[in-house]
Amino acid sequence: RKRTVILISGRGSNMAALIDAAADPAFPAEIVGVISDQANALGLGIAASRGVATKVITRADHASKDAHDAAIDAALATFGAEIVALAGYMRLLTTEFVEKWQGRMINIHPALLPSFKGLDTHSRALDAGIRVHGCTVHFVTPAMDDGPIIAQAAVPVLIDDDEPTLSARVLRAEHRLYPLALKLFAEGKVRMDGRRSAFSGFAETTSHAS
Ligand code: GAR
Repeated sequence: RKRTVILISGRGSNMAALIDAAADPAFPAEIVGVISDQANALGLGIAASRGVATKVITRADHASKDAHDAAIDAALATFGAEIVALAGYMRLLTTEFVEKWQGRMINIHPALLPSFKGLDTHSRALDAGIRVHGCTVHFVTPAMDDGPIIAQAAVPVLIDDDEPTLSARVLRAEHRLYPLALKLFAEGKVRMDGRRSAFSGFAETTSHAS
């Protein structure tokens, strides 16, 4: 089982979905720790209640962004991390850190990349009038929300949707997609291969709303 550490900043619902999936001993990744850059992140209590070790590493406690990411890197080493999963980690990581973990670090983004990179994806999706929206799990590269795509899930945009209803529908899809993507990666069925992800022996990398 691949030793996996999750980085969060807040609510931690995707983190909880990964912890719950990994509670099955047959799951190919084990969640060995959770790191938060926010001392009051709700996810910290959820992780602790599920018996996962947590660590708070705030930007304010470090002199520079480089020092902050170096402290996270040191904590990852202490956890013996082989995989890093970003789950609502709302801070850009330094190029040095990203390059060190490239190919071993994945992220979930609440839109169908390459559309709607960045923040506030659901409001922008509603403004654009798109009829299909969703979420993406991808490898992390230095450019934000730009790395090779591992898996995507699509949801409909309904006529009466507003930001809360649409974001809730996407979030339910996220909770199904992220465990699927981590499983694929941890069992070696997908790897980063230049600008694209390379797959072996597995074709099901999309998920549709039920
Ligand atoms: C999720 O929707 C995730 O996709 C998004 O933040 C939310 C975190 O919720 N991530 C980003 O926007 C990354 N820029 P959670 O803490 O309940 O998992």
